[in-house]
Amino acid sequence: MNALHAIDLAKTFRVEGRAVEALRGVSLAVPQGAFHAVMGPSGSGKSTLLNLLAGLLPPDGGSVAVSGQSLAGLSDRALTLLRRRAVGIIFQDCNLVPSLTVAQNVALPALLDGRALPEGRLERLLGLVGLTHRRDQPADRLSGGEAQRTAIARAFAMEPGIILADEPTGNLDSPAAADFCATITRLNRELGTAILLISHDPQVAAAADVVHVLRDGRIVGSFETGHDPARVSGRYLGLMA
Ligand SMILES: Nc1ncnc2c1ncn2[C@@H]1O[C@H](COP(=O)(O)OP(=O)(O)OP(=O)(O)O)[C@@H](O)[C@H]1O
Ligand SMILES: [Mg+2]
Repeated sequence: MNALHAIDLAKTFRVEGRAVEALRGVSLAVPQGAFHAVMGPSGSGKSTLLNLLAGLLPPDGGSVAVSGQSLAGLSDRALTLLRRRAVGIIFQDCNLVPSLTVAQNVALPALLDGRALPEGRLERLLGLVGLTHRRDQPADRLSGGEAQRTAIARAFAMEPGIILADEPTGNLDSPAAADFCATITRLNRELGTAILLISHDPQVAAAADVVHVLRDGRIVGSFETGHDPARVSGRYLGLMA
């Protein structure tokens, strides 16, 4: 089964009477446990795609299924629960609650769901992201890299089938971005959770196993990265030419 399966997604925005076709028939499958990335220039539709995949925006055409469950026809409440339980999301701004500690932020999705994380899960996640020593630190006293590693742990907390990340390294310097990539790769391998990461940075996209390239609202090519940034950069530029 695929962790995520999008078929023929279309989305058009109307701006002052003008139609902007953000997505023009995007199909994409991320198998269970796989690590894929989406690259594309600014305005190519990457964030729109992520919003449709997360059920944050309804498509004008096409369909999305998360772990085999179609999002079509789900109520707002059902979509909220799906985002809490079945999908983990990491944004460029970590969206942590500043006054809560690292541990409290990671446990928050479970709290909102009216339960506690399974025994030992919080400690395991904090260990995997290297924040055991920061567990009681308020989130507003973390470095950018630490904050984003907290956001990683939080995204994995509910054992979702897929993690979606939109330019998660956009606010990080390159050592922190490299650290982010190493950390999310470790969690992908250790926990077997599928990942779809959006980034225009070949260095970051090379952490994924497969890259899909979006251009003007269409996937114009997909390739295996070999975890080699130079190869990713070359293939990407080739598809843009
Ligand atoms: N809410 C909206 N209303 C109107 N137009 C929108 C809206 N969201 C996106 N668009 C338009 O859709 C197109 C795709 O935007 P999107 O944000 O998906 O691109 P992106 O690839 O994420 O770009 P970036 O790399 O700059 O984040 C753009 O032309 C954008 O202006
Ligand atoms: Mg974007």
